[in-house]
Amino acid sequence: MKMIAPSILSADGSRLGDEITAVKAAGADWIHIDVMDGHFVPNLTIGPGLIASLRKATRLPFDVHLMIENPERYIDAFAEAGSDWITIHVEATGHLHRTVALIRERGLRAGVSLNPATPLVRIEPILPDIDLLLIMTVNPGFGGQKFIEGSLPRIRQAKEMIRTRAPKVLLEVDGGVTLQNIRTIADAGADILVAGSAIFGSGDYAETIGAMKVLLSAQTVPA
Ligand code: DX5
Ligand code: ZN
Repeated sequence: MKMIAPSILSADGSRLGDEITAVKAAGADWIHIDVMDGHFVPNLTIGPGLIASLRKATRLPFDVHLMIENPERYIDAFAEAGSDWITIHVEATGHLHRTVALIRERGLRAGVSLNPATPLVRIEPILPDIDLLLIMTVNPGFGGQKFIEGSLPRIRQAKEMIRTRAPKVLLEVDGGVTLQNIRTIADAGADILVAGSAIFGSGDYAETIGAMKVLLSAQTVPA
């Protein structure tokens, strides 16, 4: 079953708890939380303190996307804050395997992410040791950017790599997902679709997430 993970980066920051409650009622499967440090990406967002507060708003899985350098320093803090999934970037640490192991030792699921220009082979050695592979389809740092079209073959290749090497790994896609392209991205192999501006920028969350789910569940028409 394909899932939708609204990114609260595009939510109304003055009412984050209510926004989470609203997307949950609208059918969200996970809550995607973007953590940025102003070094790995040119933007700053939220930290473990706010995540711990938001934990009171819902029991939906928190999918925490760490766009921070040397994430190994903060795994304990994000685990204690109530994260369920923690995803780190291959470009952000020299200790990828150790950090993935640390996340799992804390009883959480571990994801690894690749920026658009990072070769897929970088995650090949670690694929059997992770729970989720996150393919960035924009350059990380900001919501509301356009999906990089060249990402579709990459998603297909990633899916094939997962199928042959580690079939339990979930494939997540993040960046520029809209009602117009969600079906194509899902058909390319994505299991979890992150969407920020497409959901929080829409007038009616239930209508948007509902339409996304209809598109995801529709049968492929045989060629
Ligand atoms: C970008 C973040 C994304 C972002 C997606 O760095 O990782 O999760 O919120 O936003 P949209 O869906 O608007 O591209
Ligand atoms: Zn993200």
